[in-house]
Amino acid sequence: MALASPFGTFRPPNISPDPVDGIGAWTVADLANALIGGVSPSREHYYPVFPYTSFTGMKVGDVKDLYVYLRTLPKVAGRAPPHRPKLLFRIRRSVGLWKLMFFRQGQNASHLTGDPVHDRGAYLVETVSHCAECHSARNVFGAIKPDTRFAGGVDPQGTGFVPNITQARLREWTEDDIATMLETGETPNHGRVGSSMADVVKNTAMLPDSDRRAIARYIKALSAVATPHP
Ligand code: HEC
Repeated sequence: MALASPFGTFRPPNISPDPVDGIGAWTVADLANALIGGVSPSREHYYPVFPYTSFTGMKVGDVKDLYVYLRTLPKVAGRAPPHRPKLLFRIRRSVGLWKLMFFRQGQNASHLTGDPVHDRGAYLVETVSHCAECHSARNVFGAIKPDTRFAGGVDPQGTGFVPNITQARLREWTEDDIATMLETGETPNHGRVGSSMADVVKNTAMLPDSDRRAIARYIKALSAVATPHP
């Protein structure tokens, strides 16, 4: 697929276990460096369109499980066409500068409260499902503006507006409503989520119910932040 953005058009690569075109020759350390450090096995920086800005908080045990799972997928030959970055990012090393400015590697404990359901939700929302990567506004360098996290923003393709999911907008939704939407796509006002959220729901529908409830608990606990102006 082609991901259009103000920074160019990016093509997610082959991550099947094909040893030549995919990632079949990678070690588990290579996968961990990609997800947690945003660095490829040939020590190049990945463009942050690959959301390692969120995956960086992944637990090493989960990276290992993911590695084992990815190896069970069918090998698919073939490579995606090259990225078409705009001038600023045509030199990959400029991504290193971007990372110095906007990327903090590793887990961030500041979201945790000690309630195991809430804290499981924090891990799923902040790291694994990277909800804020869509539900936030970005600065001119394409980095999330911290004071708009979860408060909505123009979608990464620049074609629509992703809604605010803090309590400024979801006050009427209960934890049950959020968990139900993540399972069925249905919203409490008898609508359905569409566009890229429909793809998210295809995945959250496969989670254990306890994980959807943990996500709901965490989302309900986000304090109200006003929606940014596009
Ligand atoms: C790929 C981008 C993307 C990701 C990732 C994403 N969302 Fe969304 N989300 C959207 C879009 C776009 C909409 C608006 C859908 C519509 O208008 O039909 C939406 C809608 C929603 C809504 C409905 C809000 C309303 O006011 O109707 C909720 C709640 C929500 N998302 C929660 C989440 C949670 C929780 C996660 C992480 C598990 C998440 N989203 C991850 C793009 C995303």
